[in-house]
Amino acid sequence: MSLFANKLQATHDRSNIGDEMAVLELKIFPADILRSPTDKVTDFDEALAKTAADMAETMYMENGIGLAANQVGLSMQMLVMDVPDEENPTASRLKTIINPEILESKGEVTWDEGCLSFPGLSVPVNRAETVVVRYFDAKGERHEEAMDGLEAICLQHEMDHLAGITFIDYLSPLKRKLALRELKKNLATP
Ligand code: CO
Repeated sequence: MSLFANKLQATHDRSNIGDEMAVLELKIFPADILRSPTDKVTDFDEALAKTAADMAETMYMENGIGLAANQVGLSMQMLVMDVPDEENPTASRLKTIINPEILESKGEVTWDEGCLSFPGLSVPVNRAETVVVRYFDAKGERHEEAMDGLEAICLQHEMDHLAGITFIDYLSPLKRKLALRELKKNLATP
């Protein structure tokens, strides 16, 4: 997910990210892989950790707060996110989330979401306000965590990606048509 819709920016210290990290190629709508559900991760090896680090680097480079693996052409249930904490905006909250499962969701919230695969587009989407998610990190350790606020929104947006769903799928046919027309314009004028 991207954050152009408001002023929050990921501006924290990134000195822990090594020089050997690579920026991956971002897949832009209508790339087919954005429409395909991704495969479960089974091997928690060094290659997986490297892919997670590369995804984080790509997300930071694009000024995103979340990125799903199929947005960089990889069919795997992995996403990275780093949603700034308003109280402490310079602290890294980078999370690598693998094979996630929502165990509980409550409430409802609407937010104007952006997406790195839809440059310049902003779409209001209804999401659950709080979620409890179970996931594995890149080391294969299991986590169970409650999320709220923008982090919960971002998680749901990225988990949709992993299922082959994008935020324009929530729009009515007419609004989707208008949104895609706007996207086309955005892509034509860099
Ligand atoms: Co997105």
